[in-house]
Amino acid sequence: MQEIQIGLLGLGTVGSGVIQILTQNDDDISNRTDSHIKIKKVLVRNLQTPRSVSGNFVLTDKPEDILQDPDIDIIVEVMGGIEPARTYILEALHQGKNVVTANKDLLALHGHELLDVAKEAGKDLYFEASVAGGIPIIAALKQSLAANRISTVIGIINGTTNYILTSMTEQGRDYEEVLKEAQTLGYAEADPSSDVDGLDAARKLAILSSIAFNSRVTINDVYVDGISRITADDIAYASELNSCIKLLAIAKHQPDGLEIRVHPAILPKSHPLASVGGVFNAIYVIGDAVGETMFFGRGAGSLPTGSAVVSDIIQVTRNIETHSTSAINCTCYNDLQLTKSDDFHTAFYIRMRVKDEPRVLATLALLFAEANVSFASIIQRQKANEEAEIVLVTHPIYEAQLREALKSVKAYSKVLTINNVIRFEGK
Ligand code: NAP
Ligand code: HSE
Repeated sequence: MQEIQIGLLGLGTVGSGVIQILTQNDDDISNRTDSHIKIKKVLVRNLQTPRSVSGNFVLTDKPEDILQDPDIDIIVEVMGGIEPARTYILEALHQGKNVVTANKDLLALHGHELLDVAKEAGKDLYFEASVAGGIPIIAALKQSLAANRISTVIGIINGTTNYILTSMTEQGRDYEEVLKEAQTLGYAEADPSSDVDGLDAARKLAILSSIAFNSRVTINDVYVDGISRITADDIAYASELNSCIKLLAIAKHQPDGLEIRVHPAILPKSHPLASVGGVFNAIYVIGDAVGETMFFGRGAGSLPTGSAVVSDIIQVTRNIETHSTSAINCTCYNDLQLTKSDDFHTAFYIRMRVKDEPRVLATLALLFAEANVSFASIIQRQKANEEAEIVLVTHPIYEAQLREALKSVKAYSKVLTINNVIRFEGK
């Protein structure tokens, strides 16, 4: 049985999961591949940090010990960040090594370059763990759904924000407290603002959209809005509307181009994604031949993410055994236009404080009607000081229409504050 030697770059949440899985499933993995996969060396930043896993490997803080070791067959990059991860991956490919990475930040920005270099070098570059942790969505889009024209990808692809929104909804817990818990559990990014501001989901959506629509999408192409302005009041009103609030990553192939956006959305409880709670992720995909599909699982954490990384290592090992490379490199043969946010067509939830006086609601209806906006539902609650809180849900409109309507609504003296505006999806 041949030995496949791994150089692991990073021994944090994911790196530890990779070692744990390779150790606990060692016999099965050897039987499945006909090779023995061995972690030879591990790169860390700080050699003094106590580690939760141990093994028969060399710990080093010198990248050249690994990248220039001729016996290492596969570099597994689970360090994170853009640099030096990009440089190390490029060097590994130039050194004739195959690469497995979980690094969505890097792929969402430099995926094209890395795939091109891997192709030139005739080496594999696998990155299943970069989107939705343990869910095999990249393999599904690249291989299992390759027969289809994909029209829609809608995902809950950030575990931290789903965990926060679910805990706020089901247990009435405080935003800050739940965020801290998500960090302790290893779900959140080193800088959790990436999670709550929607950037982590946007990076993953850029990767998924490029694959689903065969057209290059980078993080800079994604419209992004985060969850920090969502309050307990919004969650309660959403529930009253028989809906919930989720951070959705939405990619649609429309007749005039690609609509790519990440934002909190009010989702009817009847939608298949509405029941996806906690740290779980799910991706809902519609293909012209297959119809609706949904992929569900844990999108973060040591072992779920490690599962995707180790499965990629196993696939690369099989390729080494058969002297082939089966990674499907860049398939962006389309160059599709991106739809501007002005042209996104959705319903909106608008929550505002107004003076509780006659004709206020009638005037609001008139101001919205002037922008050709009509309402699907209205909730009104009496508040102290002769004020009322009004929640308006519009029929689907363009963002430009909403902006025009809000301009005159803000100028109306009986409107005290506009507290929140949230898109509706699936309406
Ligand atoms: P992490 O816990 O912060 O671990 C990072 C590891 O990389 C640490 O061991 C660190 O060394 C090492 N490292 C970082 N920069 C380094 C450098 N310049 N030189 C040498 N070593 C360096 O990160 P993680 O959560 O495991 O995430 C790793 C990657 O997986 C990221 O790209 C992340 O986006 C992705 N990912 C994570 C999850 C998840 O659930 N956590 C899920 C999917 C994808 P020290 O230990 O010495 O500091
Ligand atoms: N911070 C990410 C999340 C980790 O919460 O989903 C997985 O990519």
